[in-house]
Amino acid sequence: MKKPVMGIMGGTFDPIHNGHLIIAETVSNLYNMDKVLFIPSGDPPHKQNLKITEKEDRYEMVKYAIAGNEKFSISRIELDRKGKTYTIDTVKELNDMYPEYEKFFIMGEDAFRQLKTWKDYEKIFSYTNILIVTRSFNMTMDIHKGFDDFCSKIYVTKTPFIEISSTHIREKVEKNQSIRYLVPKEVEDYIKRNKIYINLENSNKNNLVLSELKNTLKPKRYKHVLGVIDAAKKLSLKWNVDQEKAEIAALFHDFSKNMDFEDMTRYAAENEITFDKIESSNKELMHGRIARDIAYKKYFITDEDILNSIEYHTTGRRGMSKLEKLIFLADYIEPNRSFPGVDKLRDISFKNLDKALIDAIDGTIEHLIQMGEIIHPRTLEARNYLIEELSNQRGE
Ligand SMILES: [Fe+2]
Ligand SMILES: [Fe+2]
Repeated sequence: MKKPVMGIMGGTFDPIHNGHLIIAETVSNLYNMDKVLFIPSGDPPHKQNLKITEKEDRYEMVKYAIAGNEKFSISRIELDRKGKTYTIDTVKELNDMYPEYEKFFIMGEDAFRQLKTWKDYEKIFSYTNILIVTRSFNMTMDIHKGFDDFCSKIYVTKTPFIEISSTHIREKVEKNQSIRYLVPKEVEDYIKRNKIYINLENSNKNNLVLSELKNTLKPKRYKHVLGVIDAAKKLSLKWNVDQEKAEIAALFHDFSKNMDFEDMTRYAAENEITFDKIESSNKELMHGRIARDIAYKKYFITDEDILNSIEYHTTGRRGMSKLEKLIFLADYIEPNRSFPGVDKLRDISFKNLDKALIDAIDGTIEHLIQMGEIIHPRTLEARNYLIEELSNQRGE
């Protein structure tokens, strides 16, 4: 009986575009494929120096692009693999998962010509055929050269000449040019909605704030803010929170961190900000409230949720919104943090937001105890509230 046939389409997909889809559709028809598996890459070893878009964004875009084609599906095997991703590991894993399939690993001619630099490239042929897609057969005359033992495993197919490249698309988005008809509509919408390929520093208001932060904060603190923006963006994607709001809240959260105690007290007096007894003696507890005031008055941020997230990022509070939780957590786990257990907490943050937040609050409380500092009641209320919430969720 004929084996079912599977095409394997690996790639960075940054972003996926109509060229990829046309190739997949063409080879799927030519080789009577029953399935084409799209595999967005994790951390590809040969693209070490390039900045690659967040993997969850690339995953979502592929998901949108292939929706509606029943032969196309997506796999997270490379995205979820820790460390560098090598094709040999992928094809081996696929072979274990789909032993009954005849497999064709689809690759461009340029990539094939680099194959010998790949890890354990000879072993790749034990798990899959390789299907080289090319624009012209003339170019591939010598393609089998040096692969004598594997000739029967190498296939070459001519696909329509489509001059679309992901790099070109990214440049167009950055320049605010149309990418209509280059990517599926759903991908175009996703890119717009999530502001992918738009450098944060290109947006005028954020740019202004960033340059002010760069001038006023110590370099380490500025780096921390960029880290919080990054973490907040990832968490907002995971937890379905408006990404723009998360970015703005992260951008402002430590805005007044450079001020000393006198500056803060003066600012508070001039702007009619009142602090409770505990806050008024602690600069750490004042900086969120002051940052909120600056965001509102100087930069006209009026969204109550953003403002609350800025204000309560240090203490938390009872009944925190999703955005508030997210900013508190992003501040705690951003990429520059390196305390013991941070990796585990990063993991939990993408699995259970409330649980992660409780852990972060516990860490904050423990730190305050060690330092002999006062714990603000809002922090304890936040913790108690979250524990109640969590047990309600469990139906206890
Ligand atoms: Fe802070
Ligand atoms: Fe911070």
